[in-house]
Amino acid sequence: MDNQIYKEILKKRDSKRQKKIDEAIIKKNKIYQDYPELENIDKQINMVALNIARNIVSSDEITRQIEKENMKLKLDKLENEKNKILKKINITRQDLEPDFDCKICNDTGIITEGKITSFCNCFKQDILNYTYKQSNILKLDEENFKTFDSGYYSNKPNKEKYGIEKSPLENIEIIKKISLDFCKNIKSENSKNLLFTGNTGLGKTFLSNCIAREVIQKGFNVVYQTSPILMDQILEYKFSYDKTDEQKEKYNKIFNVDLLIIDDLGTETMNNNKFTELFNIINTRLLNNKKMVISTNLTLNDLYNRYDERILSRLIGNFTICKFIGDDIRLKKKKIK
Ligand SMILES: Nc1ncnc2c1ncn2[C@@H]1O[C@H](COP(=O)(O)OP(=O)(O)O)[C@@H](O)[C@H]1O
Ligand SMILES: [Mg+2]
Ligand SMILES: [Zn+2]
Repeated sequence: MDNQIYKEILKKRDSKRQKKIDEAIIKKNKIYQDYPELENIDKQINMVALNIARNIVSSDEITRQIEKENMKLKLDKLENEKNKILKKINITRQDLEPDFDCKICNDTGIITEGKITSFCNCFKQDILNYTYKQSNILKLDEENFKTFDSGYYSNKPNKEKYGIEKSPLENIEIIKKISLDFCKNIKSENSKNLLFTGNTGLGKTFLSNCIAREVIQKGFNVVYQTSPILMDQILEYKFSYDKTDEQKEKYNKIFNVDLLIIDDLGTETMNNNKFTELFNIINTRLLNNKKMVISTNLTLNDLYNRYDERILSRLIGNFTICKFIGDDIRLKKKKIK
């Protein structure tokens, strides 16, 4: 991998990290304003901690030990008091810390265990995003389970319109639960893959992003690609002469990355080579128990007409089919604005 890419990624991380730290300081100061007793106790704690550090260079060994013990006791007492205050004002210690995306490496991208330093999974994911130009996945800050809003789905059932008894709201709550379970069982051999069907604007890509973020935070890697681009990339690779190691690695990832998300299946232009490749990907991944989320605007009937039996039987047999219903959220959002 090109050194320049590492540098670029690290630079972006640094500024994002700094932003989170700055935000935490602002938030903390605001909390201090509302609760001066908390600021007061933090000041005392800092003072004692500083004294403990300074004490190392003062006086003879015995007095130093005694003083150190005393100060440790004092520190414990203060921390206890702080806990009580936090409990009373309903603030956790986490609320006072920066809200880093990756709790494993605090967004540094690097983990140190003993003498061994290695790249954190989130850093590997950054490289994947870069390699696959996963611009969509960069929206993970906006589209995740925390920002997921069921309010866009109507609670009024309409069997004539939607074809099922449930209301869009009931329906999406079930799909959300299925998706959360899917994330939980990402490595399980018994859990199925997900097939999202339904018209445009019903939140299929949004929910795929929620899943991507959740899975990445669990320490796994994700490749997201729309079907047309994925197919083009694969054919380009297949028909190129000199394949670099990087290109090979990129191709192999499609088959062995922990989670592959194929968005907008059915919007690719048809040709037999592509169908063979698509079958190959789905089949290989199923055999190796590597999970997939596939989204499509097509109905099951359309899928039947478009793809052959081999692909269809695998989709039907190994995927939980989630049918999105409701009204175009994009239009709803526009109206609100
Ligand atoms: N659960 C949700 N909460 C908030 N916004 C959503 C939700 N689902 C979708 N959206 C928004 O609605 C729009 C359409 O969603 P999208 O996922 O692109 O639909 P689809 O992929 O089904 O065409 C996007 O702007 C998206 O951010
Ligand atoms: Mg979409
Ligand atoms: Zn990390």
